[in-house]
Amino acid sequence: MEAATTTAPGPVSRAPERRLPPSPPLPKPVQTAIWSRQARRLLYACQDRYGDMFTIRVAYEGTWVMLADPAAIKQVFTGDPNLLHAGAANIVLLPVLGEHSVLLLDEPEHMVQRKLMLPSFHGKRMQAYGDVMARAAIEEIDRWPTDSPVRMRSRMQAVTLEVILRAVFGVDEGERLTRLRDQLRGTLNFISDPRRAVFMVLLGPERLRRVPWFRRKLQQVDRLIFEEIAARRGASDLAERDDILSLLLQATHEDGSPMGDRELRDELMTLLVAGHETTATGLSWAVELLARHPAELGRLEADVDDGDGSYLDAVIKETLRLRPVIALVLRKLVEPMEIGGRLLPAGVSVAPSIYLVHRRPDVYPEPERFRPERFLEQPAGTYTWIPFGGGVRRCLGGAFAEFEMSVVLRELVARRKLRPGGGEAEHPVRSTITNVPSRGAEVIAASRNGARPGV
Ligand code: HEM
Repeated sequence: MEAATTTAPGPVSRAPERRLPPSPPLPKPVQTAIWSRQARRLLYACQDRYGDMFTIRVAYEGTWVMLADPAAIKQVFTGDPNLLHAGAANIVLLPVLGEHSVLLLDEPEHMVQRKLMLPSFHGKRMQAYGDVMARAAIEEIDRWPTDSPVRMRSRMQAVTLEVILRAVFGVDEGERLTRLRDQLRGTLNFISDPRRAVFMVLLGPERLRRVPWFRRKLQQVDRLIFEEIAARRGASDLAERDDILSLLLQATHEDGSPMGDRELRDELMTLLVAGHETTATGLSWAVELLARHPAELGRLEADVDDGDGSYLDAVIKETLRLRPVIALVLRKLVEPMEIGGRLLPAGVSVAPSIYLVHRRPDVYPEPERFRPERFLEQPAGTYTWIPFGGGVRRCLGGAFAEFEMSVVLRELVARRKLRPGGGEAEHPVRSTITNVPSRGAEVIAASRNGARPGV
């Protein structure tokens, strides 16, 4: 029997639109200037006007198609990574991170590095770092005054650097720790200074590599890292150690070969740069928000004193939702691709917007409110809670960061009573990599009655 397909209308299959989504009618330099000073306002204004998909043009970065719709974000995160490149977006960091860095590679080379590193960051492994994290937090908290404001951002940077030195590099004490700490802090200060970042972008990776003072700085820090790698390779207790450098030294490529010194150096530097300022920023926001929300702080204190930690987890999730450390992630299209009902040309970057998707009222009622309870009522969605990005590029250190935030906050809330350092609630401003509290998260951390003694 012949099917009656000639007369009955089939399903309406709409051809995708071939134009880029709408863009603000402003010249590129003006869009760039607004983006660099008032990114959030630009995003909100464009979303109000154009909806969940619009175009922004930023000098030195190219054309970005912003996405705020979870279905389109899912398409990006589950799409073919050979056609959606992420490494190119971070290329400005090449001279510091090096060519083996998992952050900078794409296609099979990226998966090779990612597979080598993934086991070290498995959720269950995190427990091994709990003591190191608690010790770093307590040593730092014990130095703070009880009656005058403390700037959380720099204090939390000290904690997260210490944690990386001990849990990632596996250096615990002595002269080597001091030297490494000083050199790494210098490198991090260099990257996180926004004026230097502009300089790095303008110069480009190749020319920056040839600048003598930059080369000298990097050589100093590399010498220490290579010394550490050599010493650890020969360590008699290598197999029993659980710091990440020791685990990477025991990891092998598919052909059984170990990671080379350059490869190890590049990944250690990547973990330092990707994991230090980000986690410190997340922690600063958590403290800033808690200090201004006494009811939520009270509930957290009760949870830390004798709860099961689920409220603490919800506080961390809500902090990273409301104050995402990173505003967006980028994927550059290698070929034309249909996303969100539009055929986008090769060469543009699609940008799942962490800011915008985290503020969708259909997913998060009263989106501007700090309300950790929402994560007790519903779990975080894979494509609607994306502070760590997603897909095969999802942050390798996501579980590490959430665990570190929970350990540090637990120790802080058990010991100190938080209140704002004064002034209005702080708003996010752009640092080089992260969106930080405008005054560095100033809080007063008074003593708390019945504080637990140090571990
Ligand atoms: C609150 C803290 C952190 C935030 C908000 C954060 C956020 C992110 C984001 C948004 C990405 C890009 C994901 C994508 O493109 O889809 C990323 C990648 C990455 N992060 Fe994190 N991160 C944090 C902490 C850490 C820590 C502690 C480490 C390691 C110690 C780390 C290591 C990495 C690495 C290696 C990548 C590259 C993954 C890849 O390209 O395959 N991050 N992170």
